[in-house]
Amino acid sequence: MKLKIALLPGDGIGPEVAAQAVACLQAVEEAFGHQFEFTKAPVGAIAIDQTGNPLPDDTLELCKQSDAVLFGAIGDPKYDNDPESKVRPEQGLLRLRKELGLFSNIRPVKVFPTLIDKSPLRKERIENTDFVIYRELTGGIYFGEKFLSEDGNTASDLCIYSEEEISRIAHLAFKAAKGRRKKLTLVDKANVLESSRLWRRVVTRIGESYPDVELHYLFVDNAAMQMILNPSQFDVILTENMFGDILSDEGSVIGGSIGLLPSASVGESSAMFEPIHGSYPQATGKNIANPIASILSAAMLLDHFGLDEEAAAVVRSVNKALKKGMVTPDLDPKSKHGTDDVGQFIAGHISDSDDFKGLNQE
Ligand code: IPM
Ligand code: MN
Repeated sequence: MKLKIALLPGDGIGPEVAAQAVACLQAVEEAFGHQFEFTKAPVGAIAIDQTGNPLPDDTLELCKQSDAVLFGAIGDPKYDNDPESKVRPEQGLLRLRKELGLFSNIRPVKVFPTLIDKSPLRKERIENTDFVIYRELTGGIYFGEKFLSEDGNTASDLCIYSEEEISRIAHLAFKAAKGRRKKLTLVDKANVLESSRLWRRVVTRIGESYPDVELHYLFVDNAAMQMILNPSQFDVILTENMFGDILSDEGSVIGGSIGLLPSASVGESSAMFEPIHGSYPQATGKNIANPIASILSAAMLLDHFGLDEEAAAVVRSVNKALKKGMVTPDLDPKSKHGTDDVGQFIAGHISDSDDFKGLNQE
């Protein structure tokens, strides 16, 4: 298969972890005989430094012309405490999601058995955790009208959703549940918010066309608690943009490190793959960031294009690294292994003969 991949390493540790994801995709290319063409472009703080724009036109154009986007991370502390700054790195990511129509953000949360002791939660609580968050990504309060009064003393952000925006992601979430354990939990705040009541009505109606999927409802405050108390109860969680943002960071704690969680953002004609973590500025350039979330995002990319075998080979190799203790210090403070050691190990074991079922055996 030939794929054009736009590579947007972004800020902070983004370039370091994205480089390891690329190395793994190149190992897949070689082992399975595909052709992946990578083209790099700036986004985020680095793009502001170079061009004044967090999403330069050329970067956006490249993404539109590509089959997929592989994204590193975004954000720079120099913008965080400056409310006067009109331009922010995050605007680049938000605009990219909107322009590419990436309305569905898929964030799997799974506990790797080899890492179960790394979690701050007790083993008995988190065993068998395996759920996926379907987070709406191009609507809600992130994109509603913003207001700041002239005197700067009053501000608002509008949370707005249309039936169409809810139903397109709801269908994807129901289909995912159908292929999994057939349970879908809608997370909202329908006891307070009108927009949440619209989510309930639309999702309940759509649920009638998926009779084999059990539909549950949870208020977001309760969901935040349940996710820590009893995470294995969840299968597919469907929720709006901001609740999904918050719950997915919470979910990442279950598995022991946010450095493990990948994501896919998909729309009608584009798809982007990125770790859920941020740019981790304190770690930049230190070769300590965990590349696994980025590498698993690459596996989701492969999966998205129907390359199941290839995706499975990447996941197997990740598991091998975890089992061998080939991990970065976030998972083992005593570890001397760097971002590139872990990435090279995983890339280097993708075509292992003991479990390789690629070209050679087909
Ligand atoms: C995420 C991030 C982004 C978000 C930020 C960087 C805009 O936190 O992908 O979860 O809030 O969506
Ligand atoms: Mn987030």
